[in-house]
Amino acid sequence: MEKLNDYLCRYKGYVFPLDMLKVENIDCLQSFEIRDSDIFLVTYPKSGTIWTQNIIMLICESDFTDEAEFPNNLEKMPWLEYLEGHLDYSSRASPRFFTSHLTPALMPPGLKDKKAKIVYVARNPKDVAVSYFHFCHAWTNFETPKSFEEFLQQFLAGYVNGSSWFDHISEWHTHRDEYNILFLTYEDMIMDLRSAVEKISRFLGRDLDEAAISRVVEKATFKNMKKDPKANYEFVPAEMIQGTYMRKGTVGDWKNIFTVAQNEMFDRIYQERMKDLPLKFIWDIK
Ligand code: A3P
Repeated sequence: MEKLNDYLCRYKGYVFPLDMLKVENIDCLQSFEIRDSDIFLVTYPKSGTIWTQNIIMLICESDFTDEAEFPNNLEKMPWLEYLEGHLDYSSRASPRFFTSHLTPALMPPGLKDKKAKIVYVARNPKDVAVSYFHFCHAWTNFETPKSFEEFLQQFLAGYVNGSSWFDHISEWHTHRDEYNILFLTYEDMIMDLRSAVEKISRFLGRDLDEAAISRVVEKATFKNMKKDPKANYEFVPAEMIQGTYMRKGTVGDWKNIFTVAQNEMFDRIYQERMKDLPLKFIWDIK
């Protein structure tokens, strides 16, 4: 493990928050036994993770009968990289649900049997950078950026928790055929939440009728989810977060903060790093 600064470290090529990494947990993932029924949500940070997590939890609501056992979405669908002792998770009933920001190389190799399911959500990286910048002010154990310019440089260099956005998207997209994976974008979810819910429930093999789909859509809107204590992450203790996960929930907020020069620089780097990937992002919906 290589310490990068007071907040970050690198392990196996991936950048973690220094205070949260336990190398033995990451090592354990190489022998983590995957069950065919396991369901994973994978994202780069700030790409709509807790939103999609909530959608999956709403779709699979009937799998959780004991609310007291798992009182919120974090307990129901914990982060793979921060599991406290894998043995606890081997005693969990199937289907198990996990959330992760990791790259393919660090994921349990058993996922390549292509039975367990992965929902991958990508978001346009300008909005990711802006969302991340604000989150760094809220999350107490992240370095507070001195300016957006400073943060943008760190983001582009992959000098943030989660490493480089470009590496994350390119590694998952390049290796997608090795997994049972559904690729979605945050922007598609914003533009047509109902279709996204239908796609996810079909992929997960859950046969929801029209009324059940409508119920999930209603509960997953930004306005309603923000009021839902099981889903809005307000249960995270105040010593860890001084702000909110649910900030604006829009597409194109980057236009309110990027300068023309920053945008031009970003576009240059984006063209270069993404030239071999057949992916198109939506940058604004107005
Ligand atoms: P903004 O900071 O741009 O508002 P993550 O869960 O990966 O950390 O992503 C956080 C981003 O997802 C935040 O973006 C947050 O507002 C947005 N988000 C969370 N719930 C949402 C919802 N129900 N609808 C739309 N966006 C949502």
